[in-house]
Amino acid sequence: MKYFLAVLAMVTLLQAADSEAQKTHLAVGRDLYRENCSVCHDIDKDKAHSHKLGPSLNHLFKNETLPLSHGKPTRQYVEVRIKFGGAIMPAFGKRLTPDEITALIDYIDSK
Ligand code: HEC
Repeated sequence: MKYFLAVLAMVTLLQAADSEAQKTHLAVGRDLYRENCSVCHDIDKDKAHSHKLGPSLNHLFKNETLPLSHGKPTRQYVEVRIKFGGAIMPAFGKRLTPDEITALIDYIDSK
């Protein structure tokens, strides 16, 4: 029983550490978003209430289609857009590391 409780306590601790790491990861993504994307893209306002240069990325992965290009929202597509930009959107492939891009996409996915 004692052993069982010790294991249980350890598992609980590990889970807490895991969710703490997840929170940090999302906070990293949020900060990157604020630094690099929020000038042009809202994320907390939906498309109809957003008046920035780029479309709102609110619920990007939960929506059926992308706000502007109307394709299916996939991580690959968003990664390509971040790396290479668009007609107006700047490219971030040289400014952000692959890990940073992953954190950014996970943050967008959490919204
Ligand atoms: C200078 C303004 C600007 C910045 C900064 C910017 N974007 Fe954009 N973004 C745009 C514009 C404008 C478009 C649509 C036209 C185009 O592609 O240039 C766009 C398009 C997109 C699209 C495609 C939407 C669709 O429906 O296909 C995604 C995804 C996107 N941006 C994500 C991001 C992310 C993530 C960042 C931060 C790393 C970012 N953008 C930074 C202006 C910007």
